Order: sequence, then structure tokens, then C-alpha cells
Amino acid sequence: MTQLAAQPPSPAPARERVPTASLAELLRRRKTGHSLESTFYTDDELHDLDVDAVFTRQWIFVAAAAEIPEAGDYLTVDVGAYSVIVVRDDDEQVVAYHNVCRHRGSRLLEDRGFVGNIVCPYHRWTYDLEGSLLHAEAQPKDFDKSCFSLRTVNVRNLSGLVFVCLAAEAPEDFDRVAELVEPHLRPYQLDKAKVAAQHDMEERGNWKLVMENNRECYHCDGHPELVTAYFPLFAYDEEDISPRLRPTFERYKKAEAALEVVRRAQGVPMASYRDLSDRPVGFQLTHMPLDGEGKSFSAGGGAVCAKLLGEVKEAAFGDLSIHLQPNSWFHVLGDHAVVFSVMPTSTTTSVLRTTWLVHPDAQEGVDYDLESLCAVWKATNVQDRDLVAATQRGVADPSYVPGPYSMVEDDVEAFVSWYVARMREHLAVAGA
Ligand code: FES
Ligand SMILES: [Fe+2]
Repeated sequence: MTQLAAQPPSPAPARERVPTASLAELLRRRKTGHSLESTFYTDDELHDLDVDAVFTRQWIFVAAAAEIPEAGDYLTVDVGAYSVIVVRDDDEQVVAYHNVCRHRGSRLLEDRGFVGNIVCPYHRWTYDLEGSLLHAEAQPKDFDKSCFSLRTVNVRNLSGLVFVCLAAEAPEDFDRVAELVEPHLRPYQLDKAKVAAQHDMEERGNWKLVMENNRECYHCDGHPELVTAYFPLFAYDEEDISPRLRPTFERYKKAEAALEVVRRAQGVPMASYRDLSDRPVGFQLTHMPLDGEGKSFSAGGGAVCAKLLGEVKEAAFGDLSIHLQPNSWFHVLGDHAVVFSVMPTSTTTSVLRTTWLVHPDAQEGVDYDLESLCAVWKATNVQDRDLVAATQRGVADPSYVPGPYSMVEDDVEAFVSWYVARMREHLAVAGA
């Protein structure tokens, strides 16, 4: 039996007692290019601040508009102590309200469903889909219903992707980002798509670890199903390509040139943008080719849905990959789209919601097989979940000290520096 050579014990790192360090100090001493200190992933007080500074102040992705296709369809979203109703109104616009009755505060709606009007379960105050109070029994003559409309929440429907912002003054640059992104999303008509599947996965990790894991492909060897179609070169510059990845890179360049021809023929843009940390609505958009047949996320890159999205005419239409800070990413392909949101549920847990969208007329069992449609990302999500859980356990270990990012983790750095900037703004840390 082979004996493992004994490893000398690492000297215990001199670890500062972070609980006593103020958050301002933690933010001030954050070392660029390195992972965050343990406290950012383990401390309950800091987690509450994350919810305040990020989830209730910034624009967050909450749903695909296709989840509420008809007037009266609604869903609810919990954000910290808030609950938001997202509903399609009578003009078929997506609107959002605080899920709090204007009488004595009862929650109005649970989960998701369909309503003609929003009726409070407690004393039956009744609101229309525009949020106006229609009916409240036993009120004095001078009761002015117009003073008791539902309180609105900022909402945007970006070509079928629904974002809300709970701040009184939402970051204004959403409109500029939407202007840049919208022409890229338009051909897919996601607002009219059909939800083929939705899957919620509990992550045993702080929400930031889930996001950081998404922002790099340094670990993509851990995704055998994904990399049959997805080039594991995300965030790689040519000089980062190792000899091992060189053949993959050569295939990528050829596939990219072919994709450009296809997209030009359909008159759709192929530009890319990367502005991930300097603006409140940090975002990135790229059109990436796929490997193999180049059509979809499947073994060999073949299509997984026979009906293509929107106005798309060619199945090999690439992967429109969009990242938005703080909690979302999107893969929009010719034959389907997969959209992802991450919501914190506690300091050490989060929920990853994955939604698969197809053409509204695509029929399960005819145009697509549900298992094949979802197979790659279901497997990938499980693999990522395990990586995140292992990292959460590691960063909670007293011996953890922040480590350096590699050359291909620029977007992890961008996510973390975006986050640190928002936290600094929130705390108005002097000189930060
Ligand atoms: S709390 Fe809603 S009607 Fe009374
Ligand atoms: Fe991953």
C-alpha cells in the first residue's frame, strides 16, 4: 500500500478578528484581484446589509415576462422583508406593486396565479390591475379611495426580461443599458415566448459565491455536458489560451467567423459590450458561437427544439450571452433561451431559478423533448451547486485567507468590485 508523504502542516495564518472590524474597514482594505474575506460570506449582519444595499436598491432580475403571458397573470417575489407582486395589467403591460394591503397591511397574493382584481383576503379591499382601490366596505362618506392605491414598485420589461427596483429612486442608467441590449434581444421575441420549464435549486452558499462561480469558466472542466457545445473559453484572451485549449480555440475562431456570416445575412448585430463594474447596471453582452453543430446546448451541439424563437431563421444562431449585475445571466439561442436569477435566502443559502423558454407554438413531445431541452443546464447547475457549497464550507473555515484570481477570472473581479462599489456608496465610506 502506498503511503502518502506526510505534508508539513501549514502554519496557521495570522487571521484578524474580522467580526470586530467595521464593515467600512473591510471594504476599505479589500484587495483588488483577490477573493473577499470570509465575513462577506458568513456574517449575518453583513448579509442584511447586502439585501439593503444591493437587492433593495439596484435593479434585479425577477422573472421572464413569459411567466405572466395574459392580463391578470401574476407572480410574487420575496426580496428580503419585501414582497412584490409582478402582474400583467389590462393593457398587457408588466407592472409591479408592493404586496401589502393599504388597509391594515395584509399580504395580498401568494406565489403565482391569475386574478381579475386583487382582493385582500382579510377585509376584501379590492384593487384593479392598475393598482387603484375599487372597493372598500363600510367607509365614511368622505373616504377618498384614490388615496389608497397600491404602492408601485419600479419595473422594466426589457424585451421579455422583467427587472424590479425597490428604491424610491432607481438607478437611471437602466434605460441606457436597455437601449444597448434591446436590439440584440429583439429578434428572439422573448416577451411572446412560452415557459417550457422552470427549476428552483437551493444553493448552500452565499449569493455572491453563486454569482462569482457563474462569472468564470476556469472551472469548466467540471461541466462535461456543457462543454460539448459551449466553448469553455469565456473571458479568455488569446494570450490566455494554454496548449491544451489551442485546438478548441482554433475551432472557436472558425465557428465565430461562420456565425458572423449567418447573423449578417439576417441583418442582426453581433457587437459586444462589457461594462461590468463602473455603472450601477453593470452588464456584459456577447454573441458566442457554439461547438459541434453550433445550434444548441446538447451533446454535439444539435438543436433541442424544432421551432426557432421569434424571427430567427437559422438554428445555428449562436449564444447571445448577457450578464447583469447583481443577480442574473442569460443564454439566448436560436431554438430556446435559458434565463437565470439568484436570490439570497439567508447568509449561507440562496435560490437559483432557471427558466427555459421556447417558441410559443412549440409543443412538448412534438417540437421538443423536455428532458433533452433541460439536460445540459440541469446537470451544469448541479455541478455548480456542489462547487458553491464546497466553497462556502471553505470560506467559513478559520484557516481561509483570500486568494488571487487567475488571468481568466476578470469577470469575478468585475462582479466583486461592482459589489464593493455599491456597498461603499451605500455606506458613503469616506475616501473609498
Ligand atoms: S388588511 Fe386588507 S382589507 Fe384589511
Ligand atoms: Fe459552472
